[in-house]
Amino acid sequence: MQLAVCPGSFDPLHNGHVEIIARASNLFDEVIVAVSSNMHKKPMFSVEERIAMAQETFSYVRGVSVKPLGSGLLTDFCKEVGANALVKGLRDPKDLGYESPMATMNRHLSGLETVFLAADGRYTHLSSTLVKEVHTLGGDVAEFIPRAVQRRLQDRRR
Ligand code: PNS
Repeated sequence: MQLAVCPGSFDPLHNGHVEIIARASNLFDEVIVAVSSNMHKKPMFSVEERIAMAQETFSYVRGVSVKPLGSGLLTDFCKEVGANALVKGLRDPKDLGYESPMATMNRHLSGLETVFLAADGRYTHLSSTLVKEVHTLGGDVAEFIPRAVQRRLQDRRR
């Protein structure tokens, strides 16, 4: 059984994430979306809310489950769940510059390989930061985010 972990903050999940995770589920028997409580970022949504949004979004996708990453090392989480690989999406060379040291460090720590999937052209401009900024300033981001996220973002505006 081949199991991949897709880690991230997902604050919030957007359609670029969804597309990468769906493609990962075609390559692996099982995919775990690991939602981090990233210590360097002040999130808009709590870990519980981010997990709930991802669970609702992937409830119809076979082989995809969602778990909290916790506050420890990603490689420890991967060992615990028996992962064979990490999967990350790359939108541009800047993403590669950000991801590459983490991939090397994770391989150094545990031997775990990171598989990079090139983001689909429809989503290369998307980031959680932009989604939040545009929404907060009154712009419409509905076409870039799953329904579960739309609902919660609307609640935030009320
Ligand atoms: O969506 P993000 O915020 O870019 O995701 C970053 C994440 C969660 C993948 C990264 O911060 C991470 O792996 N955190 C877990 C702690 C850890 O293992 N740090 C060392 C990474 S080499």
